[in-house]
Amino acid sequence: MKNHDLLTRSVNAVWHPCTQMKQHENLPLLPIARGQGAWLYDYEGKRYLDAVSSWWVNLFGHSNARINDALKDQLGRLEHVMLAGFTHEPVVQLSERLSRLTGLGHAFYGSDGASATEIALKMSFHFWRNSGRHQKTEFVSLQNSYHGETIGALSVTDVALFKDTYAPMLRQSLQVPSPDGRLAAPGETPDAHAVRCAEALEKHLQAHHDETAALILEPLVQGAAGMGMYSPLYLKLARALCDQFGVHLIADEIAVGFGRTGTMFGCEQAGIRPDFICLSKGITGGYLPLSAVLTTDTVYQAFYDDRIVRGFLHSHSYTGNALACRAALATLDIFEQDDVLTQNRQKATQLTEALSGVATSPRVKNFRHLGMIWAFEVETTDPQFSRNFYQAALQLGLILRPIGNTVYFMPPYILGEEEMALLADGVHHLIDRFTPRSSG
Ligand SMILES: Cc1ncc(COP(=O)(O)O)c(C=O)c1O
Repeated sequence: MKNHDLLTRSVNAVWHPCTQMKQHENLPLLPIARGQGAWLYDYEGKRYLDAVSSWWVNLFGHSNARINDALKDQLGRLEHVMLAGFTHEPVVQLSERLSRLTGLGHAFYGSDGASATEIALKMSFHFWRNSGRHQKTEFVSLQNSYHGETIGALSVTDVALFKDTYAPMLRQSLQVPSPDGRLAAPGETPDAHAVRCAEALEKHLQAHHDETAALILEPLVQGAAGMGMYSPLYLKLARALCDQFGVHLIADEIAVGFGRTGTMFGCEQAGIRPDFICLSKGITGGYLPLSAVLTTDTVYQAFYDDRIVRGFLHSHSYTGNALACRAALATLDIFEQDDVLTQNRQKATQLTEALSGVATSPRVKNFRHLGMIWAFEVETTDPQFSRNFYQAALQLGLILRPIGNTVYFMPPYILGEEEMALLADGVHHLIDRFTPRSSG
């Protein structure tokens, strides 16, 4: 197989996600033959460092021996059984372990992140209905939020490019100001900005709590907004306001869960527990589609009844897929066996040091870092910056997909020193190339 053969067949046969397919007339797809560790290899042997963890899912590298072994073992036992009326060991074990980790219970499974968002929204809505609060049907989210692309998830998303076309299909939801540190007023600290945004949330809830079912947010980092990082203080204040006004708090930890922000879950840094937590992406180490929503006993009990319609009748055919659950268990084993969160702190310090030249570049703004996420804005006048930077990075063997003029890294947790140096040097070089200093 040659790269060219596969990419031609792909553009003829596959409708690629989040893509204007016509762009592939000039922007070639990258055919991937295999992956190993942090690297992806094409059919001609060229390798690429997966610095975005394949859309933020891969935690422990491609073709990870321990996850592979777990899956091989599971393949010999049970690949899948429907979860309505049946159960199996991997799903029970995973639910127990997720419950211990989140302090919430009764894991409900979906496949992709967006299905977890849908499940949490529907559960919250249905909880209030079961509690006789039929008027609590609305949702509030943060400005610039992203919760997925299905109709319900898109309704609480606030990214015009993804949302506006479908506006007539969507339910209205309201947005409150985002605590994203980049939106702080000049001289305002991240905490002061968080307080100001929480005051706006308070005003909103004061006026609308009677009809509001839940606030949904991405804890600590608004990923699709361009890695907008914010103070944990906002989460603390939002939790208190949700309690005060009787509104659920849905934590969408789809992107930030499983160690991305330095703790297992982002909410831990604020010392809060949400009413619903949505998990996906890293849950299987990037192997298989799986998502889960865990909630409180109070919510669970409101559905527990003799009347069927008071139950949560949502389902997906692949709910709780045994292989996916087994990959998730192997992923959690790695966290425990390798003390990953501690290791990541050391790795993060190393990569941040390696990036010091980037951080201090006069063309770089808002260099920021949290856990295993790094991001900064590049001052550029190139309207095609994202696409051009992506292509130039590929030539250096780096997979980087800027969001607008925000360059970010969300690497797998197994990055070694050499790979960090390659990444840091490559990016430094690219920034110089994209933003030549004016002479004189
Ligand atoms: C915070 C957040 N929520 C939801 C989603 C949707 O997940 P999926 O693409 O698996 O549907 C994403 C995806 O990037 C995300 O970052």
